[in-house]
Amino acid sequence: MKVCRTIDELRNHLTEAPRPVGLVPTMGALHEGHLSLVRAARDRCDTIVMSIFVNPLQFGPGEDFDRYPRSEQADLAAAEREKVDLVFVPSVAEMYPDDRSTTVRVAGVSENFEGAIRPDHFDGVATVVTKLFGIVQPDIAFFGRKDAQQLAVVRRLVADLSLPIEVVACETVRDPDGLAMSSRNAYLSAEDRERATALWKALEAGAAALRRGGDPAEAEKAMLAILEPATDHVDYVAVVDPDTFSAPLRAHPHLLIVAARLGETRLIDNLLVEDIA
Ligand code: PAF
Repeated sequence: MKVCRTIDELRNHLTEAPRPVGLVPTMGALHEGHLSLVRAARDRCDTIVMSIFVNPLQFGPGEDFDRYPRSEQADLAAAEREKVDLVFVPSVAEMYPDDRSTTVRVAGVSENFEGAIRPDHFDGVATVVTKLFGIVQPDIAFFGRKDAQQLAVVRRLVADLSLPIEVVACETVRDPDGLAMSSRNAYLSAEDRERATALWKALEAGAAALRRGGDPAEAEKAMLAILEPATDHVDYVAVVDPDTFSAPLRAHPHLLIVAARLGETRLIDNLLVEDIA
């Protein structure tokens, strides 16, 4: 496994790399969710590139950029175990020279829910992902369904810019009690970790309401009934179209989304319900 810290170094290694090339973009603090992306890449690709970069552009003022978990040595060891071929670990200066003046904005799908609560977040994601796509030029890129709105933004970006990249969505990996794996779970106190199971319980209740023939409003009510008493603040519960994050069409897949705060920690999760009559 080669560890590359500059764009030139990575590109030099990539000239010889067998295709298809798969990209697994991460911000490090790797957990089973990230490793499942690598395993999906291994099934499809002859070269796997993992990027590890805590992207300052996607954190707002007062968010957790400074305290975001960083564990490079452990991450590199995990990547090596999973047989990643190239790990790209650039510095902020390498990615964003001082004269940088381009921002990528995906209108529409990036504007509500996470985009409304975290203004500029998706501009930061779209900018870094576009840049990683330009640097690595992957054939296939692997993203987790856990960040469902990010996935929708990336899919829109790839379609709108006609990028020759297949975006593969991988299932959310959960702890046995349903909590979705996330690097931010490390922030939770033991008591908040316990309460955090409410996100999954709320999604299951919402899905059950839809499967009983309930409409999105009933599903949202069911989710709120579980989430409100268990958490410190509910940012949103909603039922949306997974591609546009606007109201779902009847008989199309419905995506249940939730975001809530426990203490200082903000968690998001989602569940796709496809079998709607
Ligand atoms: O999902 C993440 O970890 C990040 O948003 C990504 C896609 C690596 C961009 O920084």
